[in-house]
Amino acid sequence: MISNAIPLRIAGVGYSVPKTVITNNDLTKLYDTSDEWIYSRTGIKERRMVSGNEDAVSLGIEAAKKALEKSGIKAEDIDMIIVAASAPPQLYPAVGCQIQATLNIPNEIPAFDITAACTGLIYTLTIARGFIASGMYKNILLVATDNNSRLLDWSDRSASILFGDGAGAMVVTASEDGIDDIISIDIRSNGSIGEIIQYNLAGKNCPLVEPNTEKPSFITMNGKEVYRFVARVLPEYVEKLVADAGMKNEDIDYLIPHQANLRIIQAVQERLGYSDEKVVTNIERFGNTSAASIPLALVESVEQGKVKLGSTAILTGFGAGMTWGGAIVRLREGIC
Ligand code: UT7
Repeated sequence: MISNAIPLRIAGVGYSVPKTVITNNDLTKLYDTSDEWIYSRTGIKERRMVSGNEDAVSLGIEAAKKALEKSGIKAEDIDMIIVAASAPPQLYPAVGCQIQATLNIPNEIPAFDITAACTGLIYTLTIARGFIASGMYKNILLVATDNNSRLLDWSDRSASILFGDGAGAMVVTASEDGIDDIISIDIRSNGSIGEIIQYNLAGKNCPLVEPNTEKPSFITMNGKEVYRFVARVLPEYVEKLVADAGMKNEDIDYLIPHQANLRIIQAVQERLGYSDEKVVTNIERFGNTSAASIPLALVESVEQGKVKLGSTAILTGFGAGMTWGGAIVRLREGIC
């Protein structure tokens, strides 16, 4: 960081999930599986799925409204919108532009989407930090939203059991009191193993160029390879994040990880030596909501009384790319 950087305040956080609940037992109507198989391998019991007019845009709008309300910052004072969306209903107009149009956010501020899958929120927070630190923008709306259920292959029982739909949002601003809510932040990627989680857009090439072949268009995942990679990299990475911030594990009140698989979360928990009280999990009720999962877990755990604000938390995510990242943040009173 440059020495005269402007610190960042996390002003508000919100989430939104669709109303329809699909349980593991419901999935047995689609393919040969069981509640026991899914729960024992992933920790998931049920997930939410969009229906009708719901999609990642409508969920993102609801989450953004809540985050704005909590932040006390008016929509018309937002200077930039950054959306993490890897499973949106359409590639363009960007989800960010659609949110801008609906929420009465000034028409000429920049709005754009990024693709960092389940690490999306940490990536958007890093981008926002740079813009705020430099003084270029002051109030930034971050939205992390995905409607995975519309992009999955519903005959693939390995990938489709994992995902759910949801959105999270965060409003960040220049800190007025000199305190930076980002104690440390770090993002990574390793494109050389990108093929282990993919989503290819549908499309046909021009028949004048070569034979017209249609590509399959749904999320494909080599679950075992993803599991192996994350279980190897993440626990050590999070431990190093704490050490590099000059902190000790006991300085952190909560671990709020991406909710992809309970066993991966437990591996990180074990490495840090954290009690169950310090580790936030809601994967049982929402499955893997990709980019939305960290803000959803944060706000929901505050609502449930598990996480107390006025505390310090590690947010960490990983996903397609492969990407991963983490932030140690201050959670001020009143943000959600
Ligand atoms: O944010 C994105 C990050 N993604 C992840 O974190 C995914 C991490 N990976 C995982 O969570 C696990 O790999 C899964 C839960 C997705 C799958 O578990 P697994 O133990 O790796 O299963 P597998 O795909 O290697 O399959 C093992 C067996 C196979 O049977 P055979 O070939 O051994 O007879 C599969 O056909 O389990 C079978 N199987 C199922 N059986 C019942 C796969 N899916 C199911 C299912 N129900 N849903």
